[in-house]
Amino acid sequence: MEIYSTKSDLQAHLQTLREAGKQIALVPTMGALHEGHLSLIREAQTVADIVVCSIFVNPTQFNDPKDLEKYPRPIENDIALLQSEACDILFLPSVDEMYPTANEHWSIDLGELDTLWEGAQRPGHFQGVTQIVYKLFHLVQPHIACFGQKDFQQVMVIQRMIDLKKLPVTLNICPIVRSEKGLALSSRNSRLSEKGKEEALVLFNVLDETKNNFANTSIEQLQQEAIAKLNTQPEITLEYFAICETRTLQQATDKDNNKKYVALVVAWIEGVRLIDNMLLNM
Ligand code: PAF
Repeated sequence: MEIYSTKSDLQAHLQTLREAGKQIALVPTMGALHEGHLSLIREAQTVADIVVCSIFVNPTQFNDPKDLEKYPRPIENDIALLQSEACDILFLPSVDEMYPTANEHWSIDLGELDTLWEGAQRPGHFQGVTQIVYKLFHLVQPHIACFGQKDFQQVMVIQRMIDLKKLPVTLNICPIVRSEKGLALSSRNSRLSEKGKEEALVLFNVLDETKNNFANTSIEQLQQEAIAKLNTQPEITLEYFAICETRTLQQATDKDNNKKYVALVVAWIEGVRLIDNMLLNM
């Protein structure tokens, strides 16, 4: 695996690969890699000749400086994992390399995606995500980019950016990878104790029950039951649980057979913010 830390070296190398007709896939990450990320690398390997993984803990998408500070950065382990997956290229830039000028301006109209759910809870988060992903797309010029469904709204936001900016890249959305018991894998899980990981399973269980009962229960009742169950867990602080229509992420009220629905959940356990979701009728 080749490791680049500067844009110019990476671009020069990718240019020769592109001239040789290679299809390039990008897997953008913030490191602390786990099976979920590795599944993206494997998927990328099936659809492209060259897989570029980027590891960059992007400061502009953190609205809480403590969260940025605490974000795990086990870089040696990440490199070893990528090597064991035979990833072709790792891009590992510094903050100065990605943001050479302070307070660089970026603004993109994400519509309601910027104010609903994650947009509401983490003001500026999706502006920061699109800012860095746009830079990475511009730099790597991938044919395909792989993202996990775990950050459901993030994927929608990136698709919107691709559409708005007319970028020649196809998004490949990969399924959520879960532990044997159902916990959605996340870099943040490394901050949970074993007990916390057990407690966090309630998120999966509530999503799974919602999916199983979806055909026979009203949306209102499903939401009420899920919220009630999550609120009775003393170790969990629920931020939101909502059943939404997948195209707009508007909270659903009635079921429409022509529409698809997703349940979104965010909750805190042991001071760690956990996010999960499940498609309910597909
Ligand atoms: O999902 C993530 O890890 C980050 O939001 C991303 C897409 C790598 C941008 O920093």
